[in-house]
Amino acid sequence: MKNSLRLLHKLSGVGCAVALITVASGLRAQPAVPATTPVIRVNAAAAKAASPLLYGLMTEEINYSYEGGLYAELIINRSFQHSAQNPDYWTLVKEPDATGTITLDRTEHLNAELPVSLRIDNTTGNNRRSVASPPQQIRVGVANAGYWGIPVKPSTTYRASFYAKTATNYPGAISLRIEGNEGGVFASTLVFNVSGDWKKYEAVLTTDANITPTSAARFVLLTDLPGPLWLSQVSLFPPTWNNRPNGLRPDLMRLLADLQPKFLRFPGGNYLEGNTLDTRFDFKKTIGPINERPGHRNSAWNYFSEDGLGLLEFLTWCEDLKMEPVLAVFAGLTLGGTTVAAGPPLEPYVQDALDEIEYVTGDSSTKWGAQRAKDGHPAPFKLTYVEIGNEDNARSNYDARFAQFYDVIKAKYPQLQLIATLAVSSRKPDLVDDHQYYNSGQITARQAATRYDTADRQGPKILFGEYATRGATPPTPDLGNALGDAAFLTGLERNADHVIMSSYAPLFLNLNPGGSNWPTNLIGYNALGSYGSVSYYVQKMFSTHYGDTILVTTIENTPTENLTADRGGSAQPADVPSLFASATRDTAKGVIYLKVVNGSGRSQPVNLEIIGATVAPNGEATVLTSANLTDTNSLAEPMKVAPTTEPATGLGGKFTRTFPAYSTTVLTLQAK
Ligand code: AHR
Repeated sequence: MKNSLRLLHKLSGVGCAVALITVASGLRAQPAVPATTPVIRVNAAAAKAASPLLYGLMTEEINYSYEGGLYAELIINRSFQHSAQNPDYWTLVKEPDATGTITLDRTEHLNAELPVSLRIDNTTGNNRRSVASPPQQIRVGVANAGYWGIPVKPSTTYRASFYAKTATNYPGAISLRIEGNEGGVFASTLVFNVSGDWKKYEAVLTTDANITPTSAARFVLLTDLPGPLWLSQVSLFPPTWNNRPNGLRPDLMRLLADLQPKFLRFPGGNYLEGNTLDTRFDFKKTIGPINERPGHRNSAWNYFSEDGLGLLEFLTWCEDLKMEPVLAVFAGLTLGGTTVAAGPPLEPYVQDALDEIEYVTGDSSTKWGAQRAKDGHPAPFKLTYVEIGNEDNARSNYDARFAQFYDVIKAKYPQLQLIATLAVSSRKPDLVDDHQYYNSGQITARQAATRYDTADRQGPKILFGEYATRGATPPTPDLGNALGDAAFLTGLERNADHVIMSSYAPLFLNLNPGGSNWPTNLIGYNALGSYGSVSYYVQKMFSTHYGDTILVTTIENTPTENLTADRGGSAQPADVPSLFASATRDTAKGVIYLKVVNGSGRSQPVNLEIIGATVAPNGEATVLTSANLTDTNSLAEPMKVAPTTEPATGLGGKFTRTFPAYSTTVLTLQAK
């Protein structure tokens, strides 16, 4: 298979006219040299305003996106609620001369929200100090290996905290450590005087400069206290983005910031709905001090969410990256089959949506605005977009449910733009949220590239809230998938007067076995490292080269090729275009960004014409390409397929340029 790919490149490199080749990804290409060279024509005089929000992010708790992902907490099951029976992820640690046990205890607990504690009993014996010669090792405690390892990095400060209580005031020391799985202590500290009442204890652990980064490490808490020690919410944070307490992981935030996203659609996705009413995203349980958040079973994706990243953290995440929140509110549909009927049964959920909007936007004179101020953010957030539900369907009587939310929300907040998740007839939504996963790979993604060219501009605007080209090399998209995404995005960009927002989904994936719920995801990571997929770099190229006006862009003599579906997708083989283009102008900078996607396995000469602007001969070309469609990024090779930028010459009102095989190019043209 690999040989045939190489052959394809060799043939295309010498301009071979015909080759019938099957490539590793299952994509069958039949390149045919078009009778005449394609022409991409950009009419800079025929411009429409481009939505400033076109490129954003969609996020939910899937694939350990926050737990063990963006939310920087390192301790898994910090409040001991993952299992009703056992202290999952916590193991008993005993020094050689010690005996002891750990159990879940529901009789002693911090508060009603965290109704269970972890009880440590050091049963070594009360007189043990007196016989210590040599000193006995008599401490007992617990270890937690985090979300597939505690990341240990040099010269790094970790903030530990825990709630604890003893049977009597304890003058001795609790020992906290980050230690290697095979021995060795990377950082340690002591906490003294644990009270007979529940109290919070905080400490700092700092690693040395000479440590080699590793995630083969665990957090350990030890006590030599005879009798019980109860623990609640044991937490360990590394440094966070902007040093926010209860904050987010810096490397992942850096990857997001580099995309310059304009909005964040949250909190789902299926995570919003849950399988049952009591496992939906209930914002009221996700706010306030973290030790008063009960957490909930993420039934949609089958793991526990501590809700440390709750509504306020979503909003400060938006604030930190200057994104507009696109707030999805629960609308009565669960994935488990329950649909709350429109009318009186739905009213509590409509009220919840009003309360949630007030929490985001209300000033301190309002009940929920005051709650937000109490939670640490007195200033209201800007909110324009509210989505009613997620992926509703006609069977679930969405029309009536949407109307009920619409009437009540619009009456109180007429300025809000309300998004329907389905075409409805009861009311005219301001936007409709389209979703499409191109499961047959490039074939269907490319077919979708024209889907809005003729859309009715009188209808609601479009949020394309979830899309991805899915193909042969999970867990993150390869070059073939990224080309499908790029082709599709040219279609969104040409229509950015109508499709005003778009977001790839899912955003995040914890790469550890057990971390994955979904096959193709934008950004991958483990405890220590992270990388952007090839599609991530397509997103970055598109969002960072985007103007304020859309220029009408057409292709003549469009080359086509015959493709079959990737990864068992069900689409029939089809002749589809292999060349795609869109253009926008940044008026202030005086540049035109011309995007060209050559999906074929051979380089493609194209005649380019820019009408209605004077284009300077020198500009810039940013190109993303690689030899094979299956080339992909990974933790080991994070930038294997990444864009490069170089000067471009010979530009003008009319010029010819050859676009490499399997490439996405942004030409930055200086244009008056
Ligand atoms: O992105 C993964 C899931 O796909 C989302 O949760 C849901 O909205 C869609 O079906």
